[in-house]
Amino acid sequence: MSDFASRLITWQKMHGRHDLPWQNTSDPYAIWVSEIMLQQTQVSSVIGYYRKFMQRFPNIASLALATQENVLQHWSGLGYYSRARNLHHAATIIMEQYHGKFPQDFAIIQTLPGIGRSTAAAIASFAFNQIQTILDGNVKRVLARHFLVEGWPSSPKVEKDLWRLAEELLPEQDIVAYTQGLMDLGATLCSRSKPQCINCPLIKTCGAYQDNRVAELPTPKPRKVIPEKFTTMLILQHGDEVLLEKRPPAGIWGGLWSFPETDAKLGFETIVLNQFGMIVEVLQPLPALSHAFTHFKLHIQPQPMQVLTLQPNICEPKYVWLSIDDAIGAAIPTPIRKILHSLLKIQDIKKSA
Ligand code: ADE
Repeated sequence: MSDFASRLITWQKMHGRHDLPWQNTSDPYAIWVSEIMLQQTQVSSVIGYYRKFMQRFPNIASLALATQENVLQHWSGLGYYSRARNLHHAATIIMEQYHGKFPQDFAIIQTLPGIGRSTAAAIASFAFNQIQTILDGNVKRVLARHFLVEGWPSSPKVEKDLWRLAEELLPEQDIVAYTQGLMDLGATLCSRSKPQCINCPLIKTCGAYQDNRVAELPTPKPRKVIPEKFTTMLILQHGDEVLLEKRPPAGIWGGLWSFPETDAKLGFETIVLNQFGMIVEVLQPLPALSHAFTHFKLHIQPQPMQVLTLQPNICEPKYVWLSIDDAIGAAIPTPIRKILHSLLKIQDIKKSA
């Protein structure tokens, strides 16, 4: 076994994490759900969502039978909602094509929506004891430092080198402790900005430590200017209800409930009259908020308005009137939740005045 692997395994058994809710099981479903939630999201944010999700959808069949709406509702607040749509879709594929049993073949696992090579390796190693290597962002950082790999680790050429390196390091046994060790080291000691090299089991062989280059490796992503977009959200209030609109299935917040939007900065009465046939009184705007996506930053101006039309009926199924409490419980993205909480506060202030 490589020295790298044996020291990592010994360290994981002594100092790694052993009591996360998705550990100490070989149920591929439980492991799969955790690995999808842990993509782009920290352990501390995932734990609560994971417990609730597993309670509501304890197995592949229950997930496949659920509506996408219900799955998104349990994902609401975690972000990157294509993960939830893919998870749901993959569950239906497993029911239809694999008799409800999670496939063990490493190549087949990677054909499921939302499962790339690294996630497939995490599932295959944890659930089926297969000798496969993960390579997520944390592991790339560990390898780039230890082996002095230059260049941004997610560029195609560097990534290819890192996959080969990661495969060469694999142990023939103890794959569960090894995989978990890679994750634990990357998430704890070998962190991006405050690494604790003194406690690292790999300090003696770490190239970056020896050369005093820990702070400069891995090479950062070439900086691009992130585009900024602006939108006004039309918050139509009628009694204690607000109007929500379901977003189209693809694109940001696909399938989630949001507020109707406009690019316009003025003339909201006319816009609402033309689009919804409702007469409104425009109220004081709420404070603006921003939300960072992977590829752009969105600046949102929430614009509340009181609907004066007596029966504001809208027949299209993509619209729904909900009380603020019910809206908060629906499948909504985080900025919408923040706006709804501000509206609740205003409602409470008005009630107690
Ligand atoms: N990040 C990705 N997968 C993980 C796991 N199984 N445990 C802890 N952190 C992780």
